Order: sequence, then C-alpha cells, then structure tokens
Amino acid sequence: MLIPVLTLITFFSGVGFCKLYEDVADIPSLKYDFVIVGGGTAGPVVARRLTEDSSVSVLVLEAGPSNVGVLDAQVPFLTHGVANNGVAYSWMVNVEQITPRYHRLEPPTKSSIIREARYILGGCSSQNGMVYTRGAAEDFDRYAKLTGDEGWSWNQIFPYFLKNERWVEPADRHDTEGEYNPGVHGTDGPIQVSLGGFTWSELKDHVIQTTNELPDDFPFNLDMNSGKPLGIGSVQYTIGDGERSSSATGYFTPDVLQRPNLHVLLHAQVSKLVNPTQTGIVPVESIAFQGVEFKYGSSLFVAEASKEIILSAGAIGTPQILMNSGIGDRIALEALGISTVLNLPSVGKNASEHSFFAMSWAVNSNQTLESITRNSTRYNEAFAEWNRSRTGPFVVSPSSETHVGWLRLSDNSSVFNIHPDPSPGPDAPHFEILFEPFTYTRLPGHFISVIMCMVSPVSRGSVTLSSADPFAAPLIDVGLFSNEFDALALTEGIQLALKFVSAPTWNGYLGAPTVDLTSMSPAELTAHIRANSGPGYHVVGTAGMSPRGAQYGVVDPDLKVKGIAGLRVIDASVLPIVPAAHTQAATYVVAERGSDLVKQNWARKTQFQMNFEWIYSYLRNLDTDQIFSPTD
Ligand SMILES: Cc1cc2nc3c(=O)[nH]c(=O)nc-3n(C[C@H](O)[C@H](O)[C@H](O)COP(=O)(O)OP(=O)(O)OC[C@H]3O[C@@H](n4cnc5c(N)ncnc54)[C@H](O)[C@@H]3O)c2cc1C
Ligand SMILES: *[C@@H]1O[C@H](CO)[C@@H](O)[C@H](O)[C@H]1NC(C)=O
Ligand SMILES: *[C@@H]1O[C@H](CO)[C@@H](O)[C@H](O)[C@H]1NC(C)=O
Ligand SMILES: *[C@@H]1O[C@H](CO)[C@@H](O)[C@H](O)[C@H]1NC(C)=O
Ligand SMILES: *[C@@H]1O[C@H](CO)[C@@H](O)[C@H](O)[C@H]1NC(C)=O
Ligand SMILES: *[C@@H]1O[C@H](CO)[C@@H](O)[C@H](O)[C@H]1NC(C)=O
Repeated sequence: MLIPVLTLITFFSGVGFCKLYEDVADIPSLKYDFVIVGGGTAGPVVARRLTEDSSVSVLVLEAGPSNVGVLDAQVPFLTHGVANNGVAYSWMVNVEQITPRYHRLEPPTKSSIIREARYILGGCSSQNGMVYTRGAAEDFDRYAKLTGDEGWSWNQIFPYFLKNERWVEPADRHDTEGEYNPGVHGTDGPIQVSLGGFTWSELKDHVIQTTNELPDDFPFNLDMNSGKPLGIGSVQYTIGDGERSSSATGYFTPDVLQRPNLHVLLHAQVSKLVNPTQTGIVPVESIAFQGVEFKYGSSLFVAEASKEIILSAGAIGTPQILMNSGIGDRIALEALGISTVLNLPSVGKNASEHSFFAMSWAVNSNQTLESITRNSTRYNEAFAEWNRSRTGPFVVSPSSETHVGWLRLSDNSSVFNIHPDPSPGPDAPHFEILFEPFTYTRLPGHFISVIMCMVSPVSRGSVTLSSADPFAAPLIDVGLFSNEFDALALTEGIQLALKFVSAPTWNGYLGAPTVDLTSMSPAELTAHIRANSGPGYHVVGTAGMSPRGAQYGVVDPDLKVKGIAGLRVIDASVLPIVPAAHTQAATYVVAERGSDLVKQNWARKTQFQMNFEWIYSYLRNLDTDQIFSPTD
C-alpha cells in the first residue's frame, strides 16, 4: 500500500504538517537555538536563512494571523484594508500631530490615531503600497560612514538587493523595453518585482511628455533602482502575476514552512525579554536574557533561546519590547515604574520619517480611478477581472502610480541657511513626487493628484511607552516638521510640483485645483503644508546602528544590542536615517545581511569551540611528564 501512503503524506504536507502553528498547545517545544520576535517583513527572511542549516532550530513568534486567504494581503488593489474598511489587521496606536494618510475613504483630517499596518504574517510587506525603491547609493554609503562598517555601503549591499529580488513580467505582459534596466535586477530571489501591470495611460502620457518639455528640471530616469534615483521613471512594484509578493508569500514558501527545524507561532504577542542574568566577567555584553515572554490567548508563556533572541518587530514594536524589558532611557523607564536592566537612552529616539502632501486637480477626462471606486458596477467588474485573469486595475496598488520622480532642492535654496543639506549627497533626492489618478477628497468628478514627499528630513521623532503595561499601545511621535527646515523645504517642493504641471502638455487636461495653492503667500503655504501633511509610513531609526563603542545608538554595526549578549535587532529600526526611498527594499537587505552576520558569528564560534575542545582534549590526553620533563 505504498502509493496511498505517499498520497496521504503529500496531502497532509500541504496542510497538517505545515509548521505554521495556530495554537500554542500544538507547538512541540519552547526551547530553540534562535527565537525571532515578529514574522513581519524582516523576520521571515532571517528565519528562512538561519534554517537553511538543518542543525539550527528557530521559533518565530508573530502577533498577527496568517496571510493565507486574506484578500487584502493578496489583491494589490485592496491594499490598506479597502475590502474590510481598513480595520482588520491593525493596531490602534496614538500618534501625536500627524494626519492619517491611508484613510482612503475619509478626507484627510488631523487625528491622534493612525492605523499601523503590521499585525499579520508578513507585517508591513503584507499591507504596504508595494512600491519597490532601493534608495540612493549615497544613502548606503552614509550608513557605512555612520556605522564605521563598509559592509553597509552601496557596493557591498548591492548583492543583497539581487539576492532578495526576482524580476518578473508585469501582469499585462506589456513590452517593458525602455522602462527599466535589466542589468541592476535580481532574477532568482524570493520577492517578485515587476513594472505596473495596469496603466492609466492619459496620466502616464502627460508625465512622460513633461520629461520631454522640461528636461532640465524633470529628466527621465530609466531605472531609479540603479543607485542614482534622480529624475522621473517607472514605478517598480513587489507584485508578481497580479498578486502581492510579500515576505510571507516569498520567504515562507510551503517548502520552507515544512522544515522540521522551523516553527512559526501565530497570535503570539511578545511582551518582553525575561530573566536577565550577568554572564561572564567582562563588563561589555555582560547581561543576557534567557527567554522571551509572550501572550497567547489570555495566558503568558516563555520561549527560550540558547543562542540568540532576534527582535524583528518593526520600528514601533522593537523599541517597545526593548523598553518593556528595561532596556532604554533609565529616567523615562523609572518614571513608569519599570526597573532598568540597561540604561540605553537612544532606544526609541531618532525616529526618522517622510512627510507626504497631496495636491489634486480636476481633469477633463473620465479615465481616473473615480470611475471605478465610485461606481460599484465597474468596481465589481474590475474585481471580477482580477479574479478571472489577474489583469485590470486591481493588479496594482490603489495609488495606481505608473511613474514617480526623485528631485532636489536647488543648490542656492535659502533653506540651506537654516540647516546644512540633510541629503547624503548630490545624487540623492530631497523630494519624491508621485502621480496618482484620483483625489483624496470626496469632491464629485474626476481628478488626478500630485504628491510631494520630503524624503531627507532633518526632523526626528520618538517611540515611547505610555504605561508599564507591556501590552499597552506605545506613543508614536514621528516628529513631522519638528524642524522648520522640513516645512520650508517642502514649501519649495510644492513649487516644483506646480512647475511640473505648468508644462504645456497639461493644458486642456488639468482643470481647477481642489485647493488654490498659487494664491497663498509662502508663509501661508508653509502653514497649509504643516496642517495638511501626513506621514509616509516609512519610519526607521528607533533602534539605530552606531559605531562600536559609541555613546549613542542602540545596536552595533553587526546589529547586536549594545551591552547585551545574545540579542540582536534585525528590522527597519536599525537604519539610523530614513533612506530617500520607500523602506521595504532597505529592510529586506538589512534582513539578508543581518542573517549572514548571525550565521558568520556562529560559524566562527563553532570553529572556535571546536579548536578549544580539541586543544583541551589533546592536553588532557598528554602524558604530563612528557611536557615537563627535560628530555635533553
Ligand atoms: C501603510 C504602509 C504602506 C507602506 N508602503 C510601502 C511601499 O509602498 N513601499 C515600501 O518600500 N515600503 C512601504 N512601507 C514601509 C515598509 O513596508 C516598512 O518599512 C517595512 O516593511 C518594515 O519592515 P519591518 O520588518 O521592520 O517591520 P514589520 O513589517 O512591521 O514587521 C514587524 C512584525 O512584528 C510583529 N510584531 C510587532 N510587535 C510584536 C510583538 N510584540 N509580538 C509579536 N509580534 C510583533 C508585527 O505584527 C509584524 O508582523 C509601508 C508601510 C506602511 C505601514
Ligand atoms: C541620533 O543620531 C545621531 C547621529 O545621526 C546622534 O548623533 C545622536 O546622538 C542620536 N540621538 C539619540 C538620542 O540617540
Ligand atoms: C467617458 O467619456 C466618454 C466621452 O468623453 C464617454 O463616451 C464615456 O461613456 C464615458 N465613460 C464613463 C464610464 O463615464
Ligand atoms: C457605472 O458604470 C456602468 C458600466 O460602465 C455604467 O453603465 C453606468 O452608467 C455607470 N454609472 C454611473 C453613475 O456613472
Ligand atoms: C472569484 O471567483 C470565484 C470562483 O472562481 C468565485 O467563487 C468568487 O465569488 C469570485 N470573487 C469575485 C470577487 O469575483
Ligand atoms: C538660484 O539660481 C537660479 C539660477 O541657477 C536663479 O534662477 C534663482 O533665482 C536663484 N535663486 C535664489 C534664491 O537665489
């Protein structure tokens, strides 16, 4: 009866034997070599890479549910929870002084609440806008300088971009000649990347024509992911075959989830690291935590890691867990009644984020997203088309950009009198400009929007605890415009956007703006920007890297938490400054290189231990007389 048995195994290996545990009661063990906190964007990368060695055991603890079968995480157009009004996979967290950006169904209003799209397997990569941008080479060269580790430079990081990426055809299989440079893309990585598979062609044609009419200000750039992003070019998305490609779909493939040395527990929310003990005699790295406490249902459990605990809980979750564990600013911790294990004041500080300002114009056309989003017949048709053939408007993000651009302030701008240039170099942008075929307002009609983002901010914010309760939402202040430079720079950025739409090609297509910015004085415009901008959802820096031995920073360049043994951070929070790019690609390379750093660390240790054990046994077996007796 060999054949039926094999059939049974094949059947169950797709379902029952999958190591994605829904229930803590089913998990065979709570002792592992490595415990990874967070199965978001970075976590699955690290879990997959570490378990390539079958002798290494890994547990991933993820607070959210599985991504499997969640349409919002699969259909690109349903990003931001459109299908369920954006409430399902979110934590409500307090945010000071910022405007929600992704409340598509609401006009932008000031609010102290945003949705943090991170509470699902795959984390942000299961919910983000899927825009794939790496940043400027100079962003990474600055990371190398800020950390004293050449390993973070563009040239040394570049192979990790390729390792992460699998370039694929767009969903509509259109001819992509002249839209990207194949020479800078990976072909066998886990994450699918493609050009937009559906195009709002009127808007696209005007954008491209502008690069012909105003080439000095707005040059065409064949591929913004070459390390030199300046100019206007096609958007690349983490989408393959009309579906989202996330860390969950790309790295946690069925074969990886079936590795016997990898267990992933869902619905497990980590509170803190527990049982700190003094280890060894040296003052550096003399504290180690023995376990990770998590809540499943209403009970608490502890998972133990014999080699390392790796925090991949994201730029909000990671500093929160560190502070819950007594690692942070002693004064702030003690004010909440949390006893300090290690005074590390930079935890949660230096949050660095993009700001986002939308402008809309009515257009003399009905080729806009409103024709779908405001007509349920056409919405359902478009959904059915995706369902049938993975084509049509639902194969791209709801922002539906086909082009974005990266621009600089002019060299003689007066804003540089306030603060020196915060960009990492002359080939890196201050602004991102995005072109979207709809309005964020509820005005009737057809619109396009031009979005201006300040992507080299001087402002910094913070993540702090609101309470000693480890499950309470933290306070997030991403610090938008806390430095006046950013607001004044964005005011100049708006002038660039107005210049863009002043190109002759827009005549007859663009109608009235929803808000007349041209009649505002510069000071009025700056005030308007402050009041109406939102965050780009690209926050990093809250567990930032700094050189070994620096008096600030949270992790060393090898991502080990300063002063703690056996604890690393591998996620977006280690990037000391936000890159001039959407941040998932940077997060993926942090995770890929971070995995290599962990592997190298333990390979060295193992070699060292082996040498030590060999010498020890050699000495023990020697006849001591042979050593100490003079023979000649
Ligand atoms: C709405 C939105 C849109 C975005 N759009 C884009 C885009 O278009 N392009 C782009 O490049 N970038 C985009 N980004 C940013 C990018 O996706 C993130 O910077 C990046 O994915 C962060 O990865 P991470 O691994 O650091 O964190 P995350 O992906 O957030 O992973 C953290 C994981 O840890 C889990 N977790 C947190 N706390 C705990 C805990 N206590 N216990 C257990 N598990 C926990 C979370 O559930 C999550 O799965 C967007 C982000 C958002 C929020
Ligand atoms: C923030 O980062 C800068 C380096 O970019 C550093 O000089 C500063 O000390 C950091 N601040 C904190 C509070 O960690
Ligand atoms: C769009 O406009 C064209 C003419 O401008 C018209 O023929 C067509 O019916 C319109 N389509 C929709 C969906 O309104
Ligand atoms: C909605 O779209 C359908 C199909 O294209 C069209 O027949 C109908 O007139 C549209 N309704 C409105 C209100 O525009
Ligand atoms: C998708 O197709 C399946 C059948 O193949 C059907 O059951 C389902 O209702 C369809 N969903 C949508 C949104 O069209
Ligand atoms: C900056 O230089 C340009 C010419 O390169 C000039 O047109 C512009 O007026 C100058 N701006 C300021 C603020 O000096």
